[in-house]
Amino acid sequence: MGALSKRAIAAALMEQSITLFACPVCQQSMHVYEQGRLVCPANHSFDIAKQGYVNMLTHSAASKYSKSLFESRKAVIDSGIYDAVEEKISKLIASAKTVLDTGCGEGSHLARIMTDIDNGIGVGIDIAKEGILAATRHYPQQIWCVGDLAKSPFAQESFDAILNILSPANYEEFKRLLAPDGCLVKVVPQSGYLQELRAQLYADSSKETYSNEQIVARFKDSFSEVIVERVTYTLPLAEELVPALLEMTPMGWHKKEETAIVLNEITIDVDLLVGKV
Ligand SMILES: C[S@@+](CC[C@H](N)C(=O)[O-])C[C@H]1O[C@@H](n2cnc3c(N)ncnc32)[C@H](O)[C@@H]1O
Ligand SMILES: [Zn+2]
Repeated sequence: MGALSKRAIAAALMEQSITLFACPVCQQSMHVYEQGRLVCPANHSFDIAKQGYVNMLTHSAASKYSKSLFESRKAVIDSGIYDAVEEKISKLIASAKTVLDTGCGEGSHLARIMTDIDNGIGVGIDIAKEGILAATRHYPQQIWCVGDLAKSPFAQESFDAILNILSPANYEEFKRLLAPDGCLVKVVPQSGYLQELRAQLYADSSKETYSNEQIVARFKDSFSEVIVERVTYTLPLAEELVPALLEMTPMGWHKKEETAIVLNEITIDVDLLVGKV
């Protein structure tokens, strides 16, 4: 597949779902112009890159997340350690036709979840261009945008489901974007999340423990019909994934040179917070 055709394929996909978009500057509707740009009636214009994503950022944004970090995240997700979390999410949003993943990173969670959803379109947004580049490369069946989830380039009430997995959130924006009966699924770490790693990195320090209490309380205040579902399990971890696991999580960034990490297994312990507007 040549570079030009990737842009054309992405432009066609965006055109089919153009009603999902709104100009991030003036909020008017958008159209695809000559397979190369999304343009609004006021002529605000956003390029579709040759790789097949659209850049909808209205301001420059620095990201701490590098290409190599996203490769590490992909290797860890591909190993299957999040499969059970993804399966739970797929069941929760099974009837959704339009799904937005906010802070989608390199896109694997969204792409894997969308394989369980019939005739649905997935849209991923992330402020880190390297994440979106990786997503575009691996998963051309979904729509990928570089953009800020706090000032998103989407139309109001346009998504049946919004995902927010281990990422920052903007609840006002999510409420604007959710369809009347749509649901938000936010994934937050629970106390045992990656506990084997935490124990070795932060031995004898208060960071060895973690609580999501405040996040859960704020979610309950912000949404209705809230369900909190805990998903927790421990899996064996292949030795070669340890460096990737260390790189993909901010916890690992603070590792001292001399600290040797030995992990044979890893615990996934998260809360799925599900709510409606
Ligand atoms: C810990 S990563 C999680 C990525 C992915 N959801 C996953 O679970 O693999 C957090 C992500 O949030 C993104 N992010 C942070 N602030 C953002 C913002 N304002 N708008 C969009 N994405 C943002 C980062 O670039 C990063 O990819
Ligand atoms: Zn505009």
